[in-house]
Amino acid sequence: MTNQAKFWDKFAERYAKSPIADEAAYQKKLQITREYFNHDSAVLEIGCGTGSTAILHAPHVKYIHATDISAKMVAIAQRKLEAEKIDNITFEQSAINELKIDEGSIDVVMAHSILHLVDNRDDVIAKTYRLLKPGGVLVSSTICPGDSMLRFLKPIISLGKFLGFLPSVMIFSAKALESSITNAGFEIDYRWLPGKGKALFIVAKKGPGRTILNIND
Ligand SMILES: C[S@@+](CC[C@H](N)C(=O)[O-])C[C@H]1O[C@@H](n2cnc3c(N)ncnc32)[C@H](O)[C@@H]1O
Repeated sequence: MTNQAKFWDKFAERYAKSPIADEAAYQKKLQITREYFNHDSAVLEIGCGTGSTAILHAPHVKYIHATDISAKMVAIAQRKLEAEKIDNITFEQSAINELKIDEGSIDVVMAHSILHLVDNRDDVIAKTYRLLKPGGVLVSSTICPGDSMLRFLKPIISLGKFLGFLPSVMIFSAKALESSITNAGFEIDYRWLPGKGKALFIVAKKGPGRTILNIND
């Protein structure tokens, strides 16, 4: 088992109980995401955690395949699914790089609070590009620690990771994240930063798309 999986397994029950940091921004992101869905949408979520976002979106799409490296996270998500009696979500415990999904088969990939946790961000984004159909979108929400005070905490983050109370966190700026996304071949279709230090929300399209820049910092 990887250190990431061990960390998130240990943290899963606490994560499930933690409130959403910015409810208004979360609701807006849900709403914008739904503008890219239709009832035939095939959706993949990577790093789905305890499945809350997938469960909220399920009524708007054909199916969601929601995946996470942590077996404990997936077990909590599965518990919620059974309680909600939703039949168009499947949860799978898998690391992103081990996912076996047909290329060109997905309409929307969701990647929320995950791109700053992987040490191979460019490979992950390139993989989502391959999995998407032409015209499909990658919807992501990502803290960019390189643009906030968090960048000065790198030694503490490293120590926290070593001691097991923090996950592995990559330090990069919004600009670097956007470059990773466009270098993979995507066009940024929607971009929203709810405030300084908040998670940057990006919808990126495989293929030509309109560009809305909405920068609020
Ligand atoms: C901060 S949580 C975000 C969960 C959820 N997306 C949300 O927005 O609440 C990060 C999640 O990513 C998962 N994760 C970390 N590294 C991963 C990897 N390489 N492959 C798949 N999942 C991973 C963790 O297990 C954890 O559930």
